Amino acid sequence: MRSIYAAVPLIAAAGAAASYPSDRWVFGDSLFYLGPPSGNARITKATYSIVPPSVPSGAKVSNADDEVWVSVWVGASSSAGSDYTNLYQPLFNWSPDQESQGCSATDEEWCVAASTYTPDGQVGQSYVPVPSDSTVDFEIAVVDKKVIQTVTIGGKVTSQQSDALDDPLQYLYSSNECYTGSGSCGTLGGYTIANLTVTLSEADTNFASVMDLDDVTDATFSSSDGGITWHTDRVTVSSIDFDSTDDTELSSF
Ligand SMILES: *[C@@H]1O[C@H](CO)[C@@H](O)[C@H](O)[C@H]1NC(C)=O
Repeated sequence: MRSIYAAVPLIAAAGAAASYPSDRWVFGDSLFYLGPPSGNARITKATYSIVPPSVPSGAKVSNADDEVWVSVWVGASSSAGSDYTNLYQPLFNWSPDQESQGCSATDEEWCVAASTYTPDGQVGQSYVPVPSDSTVDFEIAVVDKKVIQTVTIGGKVTSQQSDALDDPLQYLYSSNECYTGSGSCGTLGGYTIANLTVTLSEADTNFASVMDLDDVTDATFSSSDGGITWHTDRVTVSSIDFDSTDDTELSSF
């Protein structure tokens, strides 16, 4: 659960069906990437909603003790993807064997949890099953010197975590990733990151200019209060074939 910006395309053959190595991370090439704000402005809050797509199809596992899994998330960080900074990343997770991930869902459902990548390891809550077709609301908020992640389904808080803020937040980005385990992840359907609102500590009228879109479409990221609060109705993420080098990049770790 790290950033695509730590990823390098090790397999250059465009369009080839990948035979990715085992126990590696593969990142989908459909994401948005936002930051940094200009001047002293920092990200203080991000809220958004996601209806997860159907669970991935076509995943293969050859050793049940070494499962594959797929994660979908939006995360906030002080850095553009350094391994040495926290990444506050409440995430959806799916595996053909959900129990291997500590989640009581069936293989037709996603699981969700507040979770933080730290340089000392991942610190996350237990996964909670997401009922099919649920809208899941996320909030990542800086409160005092803490970052509070809140995951809500149907108005009920499903997962929450508070971590120390390591450094002020300057980046928000989305990702979908496959851990190849002893197999391959198959295809993830497209999904929408809806009602995305990002709040800054002070106005930055140019914040939209640091919104990068990589094979996603954005409804229009704009501010109606002079640059403090930024909003888009939706960022639409494409379907990812995790087994194709057209759609993915293999991590270097
Ligand atoms: C969008 O998010 C805001 C919180 O930022 C919330 O108040 C509002 O109800 C949401 N709108 C929809 C259509 O879900």
